[in-house]
Amino acid sequence: MTTTQSPGQGPAGAGADSAWSRNPSAAEPVLDIRDFSVVYRTPGGDVKAVESVNLSLRPGEVVGLAGESGSGKSTLAYGACRLLRAPALITSGSVIYRGRRMPQAVDVVSQRPEQLRQLRWREIAIVFQSAMNALNPVLSVKAQLVDVIRAHMAVSRSQAVDKAAELLDFVSIPRSRLRSYPHELSGGMRQRVMIAMALATDPEMVIMDEPTTALDVVVQRDILAQVVELKQRLGFAVLFITHDLSLLLELADRVAVMYAGRLIEVATGHQIHHEPAHPYTKGLLNSFPSLRGHKRELRGIPGIPPDLRALPPGCPFLPRCGYGTESCLEVEMKLVPVATSEDPNHVTACPFVVPETPAPAHDVGRDVAGAAPQGSLPAGTGPGADGGAGADGGASRSDGASAGVAGASPGPGRVVQERDAGTKVDGATSGGERL
Ligand SMILES: Nc1ncnc2c1ncn2[C@@H]1O[C@H](COP(=O)(O)OP(=O)(O)O)[C@@H](O)[C@H]1O
Ligand code: SF4
Ligand SMILES: [Mg+2]
Repeated sequence: MTTTQSPGQGPAGAGADSAWSRNPSAAEPVLDIRDFSVVYRTPGGDVKAVESVNLSLRPGEVVGLAGESGSGKSTLAYGACRLLRAPALITSGSVIYRGRRMPQAVDVVSQRPEQLRQLRWREIAIVFQSAMNALNPVLSVKAQLVDVIRAHMAVSRSQAVDKAAELLDFVSIPRSRLRSYPHELSGGMRQRVMIAMALATDPEMVIMDEPTTALDVVVQRDILAQVVELKQRLGFAVLFITHDLSLLLELADRVAVMYAGRLIEVATGHQIHHEPAHPYTKGLLNSFPSLRGHKRELRGIPGIPPDLRALPPGCPFLPRCGYGTESCLEVEMKLVPVATSEDPNHVTACPFVVPETPAPAHDVGRDVAGAAPQGSLPAGTGPGADGGAGADGGASRSDGASAGVAGASPGPGRVVQERDAGTKVDGATSGGERL
């Protein structure tokens, strides 16, 4: 694998004018995840963290992966890059990577360790959860960027310094900051430096796992907007993982919503925003204040996610779904086109509810025989009970427990939020608990 382009040209000359960037939907996926399943082998049984997931990313596309903490987002992303350690085990599927610098498509699942090392970072770069705290406190920004560039590319020191400066330009940090140490930078700047580092080798694909979670929402949005702008110039594809669906609505080309290890809805950002089909997606949208707009009543999602070691029969969302009926116990969890949508690519795992379905009369899942009762998770086994997806590279779990997202509330609750500069939580839930 070689490359000759400068950072400004993007991978393999994939600038904004290339054919695939004009019409990315026509291009073959750069990453094609098929029937992909991952379990964590624990003494208490297999935790089915990712189950039969199909997801593809086309060149230059921004795909958002959203879902509550513990839904399997990190496991899916790190599993697809083979970054998981035991007790994680890939139990099925393939991950076909088609980089234009690669002589042929490869299945990441069957790659040998030395092949994987070439693939990671050089082809697929990853910004891990809490990455901004991973900068070395005793080295300047320049030293750290130059290190990364020289570790992955055959360039002289002075070429690496020039490239480090260009990378800072990309992320709108003045070149004078090359001399700065991490403690001299704001959180947003540190995160931008991490993004610059991920772009150092002109990757074809960048995976960002909750990269902005620790930052205030306005900075989060600015950083995501900048990533989108950069990918338009440089042509890389982005998988952007967040538990905050609202962050993705304007900026992602497509959004995949994950629940209990499964994708439950995939659609464009616009469709997810204006025509959400799956009851869980509707619930997530009602859990976060939108980035713009007025105060509105937010309703979290009642209940907690199921125990991934013992999923209930049928739809795993049933105990929390206000639309649920006995028929939901028989549902086969697969993505099908939304019955009322003209777009066959808008798919959902719920065969009963469509965007136009009126809100349910009751908020909480009914006591349907066979469905796990809410709150039935054994202590210490639920999402967040462990150290996260166990990936290499300093990944650590984010608590993801933002206001409005279920996890503790025993029943329906309300919270009024306003989101412009920072998040302001105002008011307690009807059950006396804050969401
Ligand atoms: N090392 C591990 N051992 C057992 N279970 C794990 C491990 N890491 C993660 N899990 C479980 O896998 C599920 C998915 O976790 P994760 O991929 O980190 O979710 P997310 O990124 O959406 O927050 C969760 O239920 C979590 O508890
Ligand atoms: S209506 Fe039934 S199948 Fe659809 S999300 Fe609710 S519980 Fe699942
Ligand atoms: Mg995660």
